[in-house]
Amino acid sequence: MLRTRLSEEYGLRVPIVLAPMGFLSMPPLAAAVSNAGGLGLIGVGPAPPPAFADLVRATRALTSAPFGAGFIVEDGAFGPATVDEHVEVAAAERLAVVVFHWNLPPRSWVDALRRAGTRVWVQVGTVERAREAVALGADAVICQSSEAGGHVRGVASLVSLLPAMVDAVRPTPVVAAGGIADGRTLAAALLLGAEAVSLGTRFIATPEANAHPEYKRRIVGAGPDDTVLTHIFGPEWPDGRMRVLRNRVVEEWRGRDERTPPQPEPPQFIGSTPLGGVEYRMPKFSCMLPTPETTGDLEEMCLAAGESAALTHAVTPAADVVQTLVGDAESLLRDRAPSRTSRLLSSKR
Ligand SMILES: Cc1cc2nc3c(=O)[nH]c(=O)nc-3n(C[C@H](O)[C@H](O)[C@H](O)COP(=O)(O)O)c2cc1C
Repeated sequence: MLRTRLSEEYGLRVPIVLAPMGFLSMPPLAAAVSNAGGLGLIGVGPAPPPAFADLVRATRALTSAPFGAGFIVEDGAFGPATVDEHVEVAAAERLAVVVFHWNLPPRSWVDALRRAGTRVWVQVGTVERAREAVALGADAVICQSSEAGGHVRGVASLVSLLPAMVDAVRPTPVVAAGGIADGRTLAAALLLGAEAVSLGTRFIATPEANAHPEYKRRIVGAGPDDTVLTHIFGPEWPDGRMRVLRNRVVEEWRGRDERTPPQPEPPQFIGSTPLGGVEYRMPKFSCMLPTPETTGDLEEMCLAAGESAALTHAVTPAADVVQTLVGDAESLLRDRAPSRTSRLLSSKR
């Protein structure tokens, strides 16, 4: 099995992390990844503290392995996505890991979690932010590169950002996120210095992911140039830079996508999705991701996905994704790399 310092310290069988995707990384997927030996992270998104506590309990009912959660640090139309009570729940439940994304968390949250024995990771997109996260007390940083899906803080591709970040924060472990979906990209990230990898898009194409079937199908069908960075989505969280699949609304606004456009008058709704126990009418440009219960026009919706969609070829169970990635990376490193290396280093002309 593939082992790293981080996987051993955290009691994982494999150095693979489920990205905490709001709406999609729900208890069945988080538990499946943890049961497969990785680290499942619940995507808390806009869920209020009592709903988050329910998600933790539901995950615990499905796994006895370590798991965690990801919080967004940002104010939006629903107020601050994360509040003190979220952090209190995570600490009381002694989650293995909490990830913060978008902005840095207050030091009081970091201290409270670490006192409870929960490790704190911060997902960042620049070397400077990584240093700030470590100064704040982060146990690890997630290096999110520009290939990543969803809200992207990454400013450069993984192949240049990851080694720079590893050098900058050593000995703090760095987890790689963005562009990883198969054994080759897993092996490459480990060789570039990552202690683990965090995958979002690849895990959307699993039966356990809480994503609309058509959304999964489009990820499986996507090629390398089928995702783009855009700011059009988000009356709920305006002007976020997101990597999404191309669809009609994305193409219509190409070249005019540096901000979330104003809402049309009269208001237009593109669909409906359950949110906090009520039916939420999705306004034009909504950044809510389509789940199995969502109705409406997917050509108008935010289909967040990374460039790694191009390496995602089928909907397969999360445990198979983990096993295939690890098996392929092992055989690449053990069997294929030595013969390739000896050819590269051969003195024959
Ligand atoms: C659909 C989707 C939703 C996401 N939601 C979140 C989120 O709520 N919180 C978070 O920290 N990261 C989120 N991310 C970003 C991931 O943490 C990670 O950076 C990204 O998935 C890595 O790229 P990949 O999707 O190509 O694997 C999301 C990513 C995707 C694709």
